[in-house]
Amino acid sequence: MKEKQLHALLNEMTLAEKVGQLVQLTPDFFAQGGEITGPLQEWQMTEEQLFIIGSVLGTHTAQQVYAIQKQYLAKSRLKIPLVFMADVIHGYETIFPIPLALAASFDEKLVEQVAEASAEEAAEAGVHVTFSPMADHVKDARWGRVLESNGEDPTLSSALVSAYVRGYQGDKDLLATNHKRIAACVKHFVGYGAPEAGRDYHTVDLSELELYQNYLPAFHAAIDAGVQLVMTSFNTINGIPVTANKKMIQEVLREKLEFNGLVISDWGAVAELIAHRVAENREAAAEKAFRAGVEMDMMSDCYLNVLEQLIHSTPALEKMLDQAVFHVLQLKNNLGLFEDPYRGLNDQNLSVNLAAKTRRLSREAAEQSVVLLKNDHLLPLKTKQKVALIGPKATSKDLLGAWSWIGKTEAVVSLQEGLSTKDIQLNTLPYPDGEEVTEEYLQKACHLAEACDVVIVAVGETSEEAGEATSLTKLELSRNQEKLIQAVSTLNPNVVTIIFSGRPLVLSAIEPVCKSILVAWFPGSEGGNALANLLMGEKEPQARLPMSFPRAVGQLPYTYAQLSTGRPQTKENQDQKYISRYMDEKNEALFSFGAGIGYGSCILKETALDFDDQTATHTLACTIKNPTSVDHTTILQVYSRDDQTEVARPMRELKKWQKVFLPAGKEQTIRFQFTEHDFAYIHSDLLLKSDVGTISLFVGFDNTSLTFIGKITI
Ligand code: NOJ
Repeated sequence: MKEKQLHALLNEMTLAEKVGQLVQLTPDFFAQGGEITGPLQEWQMTEEQLFIIGSVLGTHTAQQVYAIQKQYLAKSRLKIPLVFMADVIHGYETIFPIPLALAASFDEKLVEQVAEASAEEAAEAGVHVTFSPMADHVKDARWGRVLESNGEDPTLSSALVSAYVRGYQGDKDLLATNHKRIAACVKHFVGYGAPEAGRDYHTVDLSELELYQNYLPAFHAAIDAGVQLVMTSFNTINGIPVTANKKMIQEVLREKLEFNGLVISDWGAVAELIAHRVAENREAAAEKAFRAGVEMDMMSDCYLNVLEQLIHSTPALEKMLDQAVFHVLQLKNNLGLFEDPYRGLNDQNLSVNLAAKTRRLSREAAEQSVVLLKNDHLLPLKTKQKVALIGPKATSKDLLGAWSWIGKTEAVVSLQEGLSTKDIQLNTLPYPDGEEVTEEYLQKACHLAEACDVVIVAVGETSEEAGEATSLTKLELSRNQEKLIQAVSTLNPNVVTIIFSGRPLVLSAIEPVCKSILVAWFPGSEGGNALANLLMGEKEPQARLPMSFPRAVGQLPYTYAQLSTGRPQTKENQDQKYISRYMDEKNEALFSFGAGIGYGSCILKETALDFDDQTATHTLACTIKNPTSVDHTTILQVYSRDDQTEVARPMRELKKWQKVFLPAGKEQTIRFQFTEHDFAYIHSDLLLKSDVGTISLFVGFDNTSLTFIGKITI
């Protein structure tokens, strides 16, 4: 449809029909077979109201979408198709590793492929929009939703958020005809990842400097990549819930970030303004959210029951209403829904079996997401070795993670299943599902450990313990899991611990007794196969931590990119009192952002800095060599420190990275280019600019052992 036609359609709409377009409900509202029961009755909604709504969220099958759309179009006067949205976060039916795991790959291309494959499966099931990517900046693993994030570094997160948007949407202008892609909704705008004390939905108080410097860039990246929707967050920011926060939505999102698509609330967040006590009733809640700039009301009846009356009493607001409705129509048009409301669902040839191809990608993604944190000459396993496999995750199929509502647990390959295909003597001690380690289990495990060459202990969180509303005050493994690792390690020192989790955990108690530690996260449908390939050395672990693993919960919130302080701790002043340090713990994380090793290694052989006057571009050339006899993949990381700044800045921050495959004995020169823009930062006037001065550059394969390269002048 041409823009003119969209305007003509808008002009044809009654006030009630316009308001209806701004309402999003779940599919169960439609499952009444014509009778007003269930949620319709509970919400005291009429059928007339139902057949003017604009969107549905959370359908499961193509048949369901087809039936609802058909029923809707038959009853609605203007026949504006519904737009169907869903949480397709790390896959639809085939589940990929959780986003935090994918971030560990440091691989934009991989993330783009994963998003594309997820879009394809979801589109086949009738989904038009995914509530992904999550662009929240995170520093606190107590918050369970770090699982959905790209970790603690805003530069890495921005690159990956942008990759997700490209993968889901493809070429935005082709979205109308390319029914294999779907629209993306970036969330949760803004500050949702910074709840006080890591408690989900809790207060957020952020300085503007911090907001602009670290919390907005990933949203900006999504918008630059053409994201179609933005979801506002549940939290307050500096006292005002974002869902009612005019400054955040109008000034920051619309004006500063230049977003011109559709703004949707989070689930029920408009009505929650009453619980926040910034609105005394539904009328006030709807008015506050609407005036602030929230356009679509997800799962509340506030807009549906209030906005028409509000516009009658304040006609000046109709312009705002028209603008919001236009954004909804535009989204539907961008998706090609006016031409085909079923978006290809009745094309015979759409129903190709994607499973095999997508599962392969899921396995590759898992192989590239698992982080090897420690390896004292134990891995890879050797063929014929006698291996004990114990612990709650040994045979568990609970490897999908929080957002796998369509993915089937039965279709998961467990660690035991993956390892059983390998040429080792595998001895598994199954773990009673959902139970804690009993004394009997512990004894059997110790017995088995003694009789084997290597012990693999598979431990971690259940999917119920990670994700939304799973905040924690303790991040250690459960006491029984720690006890299990410690007990077997006294009988057999060859312990490999595999951690399955949706967040960084505190591993201080078990790290000393494990020869190898692998972080598998929630690796998805093919987790067991991927891990087996890695454990056997058929694939090399190549991921790096996207979020630091603290030594103690008391270090949180934590980021490796700490700002300079007036009393920094240095190598020389370790024992002094009046410096910025803890009395009972080191400052640094146990395993920092960027940490991870493989089975091979390489060395930084030579570096050179060069400046091109004409393009004002600095080039850093790093020659790295694999001196070993095994092939090796590494992630070369470049960090910088601005030597003199207007506001306090990080002691080091990631600027560029590259994954490099180096065959045994070979070397390669990797070039990184920088312009002044790469070193711009937010100043106290909230503007992004760079200062004249020097920048120190550091390079490494892991951010705790960086090599100082030199200074460049910008
Ligand atoms: C609430 C969550 O915060 C959000 O991320 C999700 O997209 C919506 N529910 C819809 O399910």
